[in-house]
Amino acid sequence: MAEMSANANVQIDASAPAPIHVRINGVTYTAQEGTTILELCRREGIHIPTLCNHPDLTTKGICRICVVEVVGSRTLQAACATPISEGMEILTTSEKVRKSRRTILELLLANHYTDCTVCPKNLNCELQDLANEFGLTDLRWKERRERTVPQDFSSPVFVRDNNKCILCQRCVRACDDLQGVYAVANLFKGDRTIVGSAFNRPIADIVCINCGQCVAHCPTGALYEKRSVDDVWRAIDDPERVVVIQTAPAIRAALGEAFGYPPGTRVTGRMVAALKAMGFDHVFDTQFAADLTILEEAHELLDRLKRTLVGGEKGLLPMTTSCSPGWIKYQEHFFPELLPNVSTCKSPQQMFGAVLKTHWAKSMGISAQRVVSVSAMPCTAKKFEAMRPEMSSHGLADVDHVLTTRELAGMIKQAGIDLKEMPEASFDDPLGRSTGAATIFGVTGGVMEAALRTAYEVITGREVPFEHLDIVPVRGMEGVRRASVRIEQARSPWAFLEGVELKLLITHGTANARQVMTSLREGTLDAHFIEIMTCPGGCLGGGGQPLPVTPEKRIARAAALYAEDAAHAQRKSHDNPAAQALYRDFLGEPNSHLAHELLHTRYVARGRY
Ligand code: SF4
Ligand code: SF4
Ligand code: SF4
Ligand code: FES
Repeated sequence: MAEMSANANVQIDASAPAPIHVRINGVTYTAQEGTTILELCRREGIHIPTLCNHPDLTTKGICRICVVEVVGSRTLQAACATPISEGMEILTTSEKVRKSRRTILELLLANHYTDCTVCPKNLNCELQDLANEFGLTDLRWKERRERTVPQDFSSPVFVRDNNKCILCQRCVRACDDLQGVYAVANLFKGDRTIVGSAFNRPIADIVCINCGQCVAHCPTGALYEKRSVDDVWRAIDDPERVVVIQTAPAIRAALGEAFGYPPGTRVTGRMVAALKAMGFDHVFDTQFAADLTILEEAHELLDRLKRTLVGGEKGLLPMTTSCSPGWIKYQEHFFPELLPNVSTCKSPQQMFGAVLKTHWAKSMGISAQRVVSVSAMPCTAKKFEAMRPEMSSHGLADVDHVLTTRELAGMIKQAGIDLKEMPEASFDDPLGRSTGAATIFGVTGGVMEAALRTAYEVITGREVPFEHLDIVPVRGMEGVRRASVRIEQARSPWAFLEGVELKLLITHGTANARQVMTSLREGTLDAHFIEIMTCPGGCLGGGGQPLPVTPEKRIARAAALYAEDAAHAQRKSHDNPAAQALYRDFLGEPNSHLAHELLHTRYVARGRY
C-alpha cells in the first residue's frame, strides 16, 4: 500500500500576545500586537489610500499617501508602517490628513508626465485612480512636465518609462523580495533619483528573467509589457494566413476579471466563443500540450530514476521542471552547473507550437509557412521563451506571437465584444482536447500533481491513492512545500522502485527557488523531483495577468482551476484521447526519437553581465 505524507511545518504559538485596543475615528477596535494601522483599517473596511505599499512586498513607508493622525503625535504617521499600540487614537479623515494626502498627490503629479489618454495604464492606474478619488480637477503646479528621461525599450518583454515613475520602489521590491533577481534599484541621489538597473545600463544588458512581476506590481504606466496585439490583428486580416490560437490554463481563471467578473470566475467557454468571433481560424488549448508535457516528463523522471537507482549514474536527480521560462533563465544565469537536472521537456506552449507546425499542419494539408501560431499566456516571460532560437521545429518558430491575458482582454474589447454577452463554445478538435490534470498546470503544485497521477499509475498499474485523485499534500500557497510518496507493489519493469519513498518538493517565486537550489548545490537537499514556478502562486500569478495583483485573487484563481479539474471527466493526462492518437499516429511513444526531436530541448549557461 502506498503512503504519502507532507510536512506541514505547523507550529502553535502558546504565548500569543494579548490583544490591543485602539480607537479609529471614535470607534474602538481590537487587534493583535504587531498589526499596523493600515492592516487594521483594511480589516475593518476603513479606506486608506496607498501607493508604495503592497501586500506581496515588504513595507517601506516611502510615499506617505497613507498618512493618518495619531492623537498626541507631533507628526502624521504612515499607516502602512506604524504598528498599533494600546490606547492609540487614530483619525483617518481629519482636515489635516486630507490636506496632507492631497498635497502629496499634487507633488507627485507635478513631477509626472501625464498623458493618460494614450498611456498603456489608462483606466488601470493607481495614480490616476487617486487623482480621481481626490477630485483633482486642477493642479497647483501647472507647468506640464515633459518627457525628459529616455525610455528603455531594450527588454524583449517590457518598457520602462521613468517619466511616469513615482519612485515607490514596488518594482524594486518585486524583483528582490519575490524573485531574488535584484535587477533594479534606486540610482543617484536627491531630486536626481531614478529607478533603474545597475550603472543605469539598459535592462537588456543586465540579468533580468523577463518575469514581469515588476510590471504587474507597478502602480503607474512607468512599466508596461511590449504588445503583440497589432501583429496578431494583421495576421487575422491576412487571407493567406491560417491563424491559430492556444490559450493557457491560467487565462480562463483570470480573463473574466477584465470584464467585471469576480476573481475566480471561469470564463473558458465564453473566451473560446469570443476568440472565434474575432476571426481566429482555430481555437485550441495549451492544455492539450500540458498533457503531452506530463506524458513526456513522467517518463523522463522514470528514466532518470532507473539510470540513477539501477545504473548508478550521477547528476540526474532531482529532476526539476522546465515549463516556467522565467526560472529557466534564472537557472541559466545563477545555477548553470545544475542545468543537467532540468527536464529536457519543452514547455506546453512550445510543445503545442511544435506539434501545430508539423503534424497538425500536415494532417490539415496546410503549408506550415502559412500557419501563424499565437499563444495567450499569463506570463511575459513566455514572450521571451517564444523568441529563443532553440524553440523552433524544422526551421520555423514554434510560436510566432505571445499575448498576455491583459493584451487578450484588450483585443476582445477592441473587437467590441463583451465577454458576458458571449455564449459558451468549445475548443476545436483535436488540439483542444485536454484533461483536468492539464488544467491544474496553472497553479503551483499542479505540474507535480499531474505528473504523479500519471507516473504512479505507470509504476503500479493503479490510480494514485487519494480520494478523487486530489493529491492535497502538494497543494497550497506556502513558498516551499515538501511531500513524499512510497512506492509499493511496483510492476515488474519498475521493480527497482519497490519500497522507494519518492521525495517531492514544490516551490514558487524565484527567491524561494533560489534557496532550494542553493541547498541542492551545497548537497543538503534530498529530493527526487522538484516543481519550480517563477511567479507567486504559479502561472495564475503571472506577470501578464489582469491588475491589480493581490494574494486573494491568486487564491480565488487557484480554486477556479481546481474546480475545473474536479468537474472534468478525464483527470489523468494519459487518458487524453487526442494525445493517445498523436502518439499512435505520429510520435510513437513518450520519449521516442521523434518526441525528443520535437518536444525536448537543451538550455545553455549564461553569464551574469
Ligand atoms: S501613469 Fe497613470 S496618471 Fe500617469 S499618464 Fe499613465 S494613466 Fe495617467
Ligand atoms: S522582469 Fe522580473 S527579473 Fe526583470 S526586472 Fe522585472 S521583476 Fe526583475
Ligand atoms: S517603475 Fe513603477 S513600481 Fe517602479 S518605482 Fe517607478 S512607479 Fe514604482
Ligand atoms: S502606502 Fe504607506 S507610505 Fe506609501
